Amino acid sequence: DWTPGHILTEQVEAIRSVVGTEKVICGLSGGVDSAVAAALVHRAVGDQLTCVFVDHGLLRQGEREQVERDYVAATGIRLVTVDASAQFLGALAGVTDPETKRKIIGREFIRTFEAAAADIAAAEGGVRFLVQGTLYPDVVESGGGTGTATIKSHHNVGGLPEDLTFELVEPLRTLFKDEVRLLGAELGLPPEIVQRHPFPGPGLGIRIIGAVDAERLATLRAADAIVREEMTAAGVDAEIWQCPVVLLADVRSVGVQGDGRTYGHPIVLRPVSSEDAMTADWSRLPYDLLARISGRITGEVAEVNRVVLDVTSKPPGTIEWE
Ligand code: XMP
Repeated sequence: DWTPGHILTEQVEAIRSVVGTEKVICGLSGGVDSAVAAALVHRAVGDQLTCVFVDHGLLRQGEREQVERDYVAATGIRLVTVDASAQFLGALAGVTDPETKRKIIGREFIRTFEAAAADIAAAEGGVRFLVQGTLYPDVVESGGGTGTATIKSHHNVGGLPEDLTFELVEPLRTLFKDEVRLLGAELGLPPEIVQRHPFPGPGLGIRIIGAVDAERLATLRAADAIVREEMTAAGVDAEIWQCPVVLLADVRSVGVQGDGRTYGHPIVLRPVSSEDAMTADWSRLPYDLLARISGRITGEVAEVNRVVLDVTSKPPGTIEWE
């Protein structure tokens, strides 16, 4: 029967027998999946594992610090951070098509990662394995082993190049998110990491509807930070699956503020409730919380003059807008 303790013991054994004395590398995204996968592999093979955190410039406020400081403190994992923001922003310049954005981000991610891996391999005498925090729903949605068509090209599964030189270690491949959280707690990871809401690999890049640039990212990052702060203060984090915050960068609407007319962008709130992200319903957040969020975003984020609520279930909507 399923307990986190059993899974942990079983996976640690399995990882040891597959990896042996070889070196392993793992990309940390800031999310719970890669955090738990890496902690599990670290438990199994210790410092044979080196983690790489690619800052692609599409992260939310405070995320890099949380990985570099809190996660490293909790696990003792060896971490290399690569700041690749300029490279990603350059590659994304002018691109508006969602799948093209995803492919570019996936490609740049792999390139950056492989360059970091090459450096680590040179220092370590070779790296054979790559850890991925792939979950069961990712496998299903990417058509891996089920015969279903790809719905979106999730870059942690479908975007890997054919000539990838690593062998994959995917210790979470049969698990759902709630099981991964229990496993993370069993591994001693702090609640802020284990209970963190999902965040897509392509990051804020697929939450800007329109082309991605530094200014738009700063706008979305500021709005997103307000949403997260207010939701945590209201104590609703545990009730919802996640709340994407989306910037409609190519849409403007007329508003009025102080004495003047404004012509700014809308921010979309997409709070959803779900068991496994395969289906979802829009979360009935308290109106006074929504009012506080709206008031703060329009008051504090200069480019935004309107906040709208997405009341679509999945299906027919996906959770993310791209
Ligand atoms: P959708 O938008 O397909 O999202 O309903 C389902 C869940 O997956 C997350 N998501 C991603 N996670 N890489 C990831 O690691 C991705 O490319 C990606 N795209 C979507 C999304 O946040 C939601 O939890």
